[in-house]
Formats: sequence, C-alpha cells, structure tokens
Amino acid sequence: MLKGKVAVIYGAGGAIGGAVARAFAREGARLFLTGRHRPSVDAVAREIVWDGMPVEVAEVDACDEQAVDGHLESVIDAAGRVDISFNAVGISDPAILGVPLVELDVERFSQPIRTWATSYFLTARLAARRMIPNRSGVIMTVTTLHSRAGFTLAGAYGPAMAAKEALTRELSAELAPHGIRVVGLRPQAMPEATQTGEAFASRAKSLGMTREQFLDVLASRTHPRRLMTLAEMARVAAFMASDDASGMTGTIVNLTMGSLDD
Ligand SMILES: NC(=O)c1ccc[n+]([C@@H]2O[C@H](COP(=O)([O-])OP(=O)(O)OC[C@H]3O[C@@H](n4cnc5c(N)ncnc54)[C@H](OP(=O)(O)O)[C@@H]3O)[C@@H](O)[C@H]2O)c1
Repeated sequence: MLKGKVAVIYGAGGAIGGAVARAFAREGARLFLTGRHRPSVDAVAREIVWDGMPVEVAEVDACDEQAVDGHLESVIDAAGRVDISFNAVGISDPAILGVPLVELDVERFSQPIRTWATSYFLTARLAARRMIPNRSGVIMTVTTLHSRAGFTLAGAYGPAMAAKEALTRELSAELAPHGIRVVGLRPQAMPEATQTGEAFASRAKSLGMTREQFLDVLASRTHPRRLMTLAEMARVAAFMASDDASGMTGTIVNLTMGSLDD
C-alpha cells in the first residue's frame, strides 16, 4: 500500500509510533524514524531492518522547530520528498493525570497542550511546506476519546486532544486544495502500550481500582468487550496513509470500537 512513499514518524520509539513504523515498513514505505531519545527509536529500526527495509533514525525533539525543520531538510536531501508525516509523540509523565482540576497547577495543565497540540502544529506545518510543491502528502496524528467525552482526573488530556482534532480539520481545510490530506486516529486504550499502564495506574488508584480492574471497565464499554491491539490500530494507520484512502481528509477515524458514538 505504501510502496515508494517517504514517511517521517515523530515519537517512533513509543508504542504507537513503533507499531505504525512496523506497519508502514510492511507496506513498503521508506522510513525516517525520529524520537527525543535515540535508543528506543534505534530498537524499532533494528527490528524493521531485520525485515529487510532500509530505515534512517534521528534524534529530533518534536517541540523544537529548528530540529524538526533541519531534519526534514535532511529527509529531502536523502529521499527527495516527504509523503507522510505521522506525529505519535506521547508524554511519559504520569503526573499529568490523576489530579482533580481544582488542584492542578498551570504547568501540569499546559504540558499536554504544549507537547501534543504544539508539536502536532509544528510537525504538520513544516511537512506541509515540503508537500505543497508536490501537490501531494498525508499528515497524520493520534488522539484519544478524551477529545469528545468528559472524564474525571484527566487534567488537560481532553483539551489537548480536542485541540489536535480541531487542528486536523483546520489543516485539512487549508491543505486539501493543495493535494494534502490530514487525518487522525482515535484509538481506545491499548494495554500493550506501557504508557497506558503508567498513565492509567494513577487514575485507577484515585478511583480505588487496580490497573487491571480499570482496563476491564474500559473494555466493558466497547462493543466486542475487549481493548484494541497496537497491530490493529497500525493496520488502519497504514491504510489511512495510502492512496486507497484518498477520499478521507479532515477527519479522525473512530477506533474506539463502540465506546464513543460518532
Ligand atoms: N497507548 C494508548 O493506549 C493510547 C491510546 C490512544 C491514544 N494514545 C496517544 O498516542 C500518543 C502516543 O502514545 P504511546 O502509547 O505510543 O506513548 P509512549 O509509548 O509513551 O511513546 C511516546 C513517545 O513519544 C516520545 N516523545 C515524547 N516527547 C517527545 C518530543 N518532544 N519529541 C519527540 N518525541 C517525543 C517519547 O520519547 P522519549 O521516551 O524518548 O521521551 C516516546 O518514545 C499519546 O499522545 C497518547 O495519548 C495512546
């Protein structure tokens, strides 16, 4: 599905970024994987290289405009173009969750908005500038159902995710006339992701549950009564990045398996 496409992934050392990288590689994309710290990205790249796909790795802070721009310049030098930009950046600080809003300090409120919404804006804007001359490209990110539903003890998770979804629509409105699609994925929690475990541990504790009980509650809200796997999410990502999804832009794919109505 992605043969000949050049893809840049931000946060590629994370659970979602790594799964998307593996799926994109399986579909034939040429990958430029980036992350804030190199070792986790190297580990993903090693797996893919064993499968025979060439992969390039770079340390890039997705909140740093110069670093993102300089990296994209090097991608253009090496591959001549960028076709797919996927922002999968996450936050490893579990303290952004589990605190009532009336007790939340401004720094912990701002961190998710800065890391998620601002880094998505930066990576999307800088990729779009390279895609416009080709009149082709796909800009992608990942959100959560907090964008559309209110939960306790989630801090700025919801506002940050809602901002990413609104930005997806606005980017699409401006970029689709230039041949660029902008789409997001909104998966339910995926228990294989370690971040899910750590982030949910504090919320589970505040609700008097174990992490496992909390994940069971989330699973019970889906139609199939189970949570999604990373591979399931990544296969949808590969399809959405491909030309087969040319009819989809300015939208977020609802991967909550029935937890959240459209
Ligand atoms: N996991 C889930 O079940 C789930 C479900 C729905 C949505 N999401 C959302 O998907 C995103 C990723 O989740 P995940 O589970 O893959 O998280 P994760 O495993 O913690 O991975 C996040 C990655 O982002 C990197 N990162 C953080 N700040 C960065 C920055 N400024 N520049 C570049 N890289 C940066 C981290 O690198 P370092 O470790 O080097 O800092 C890490 O490799 C999050 O926004 C999360 O809310 C997750």
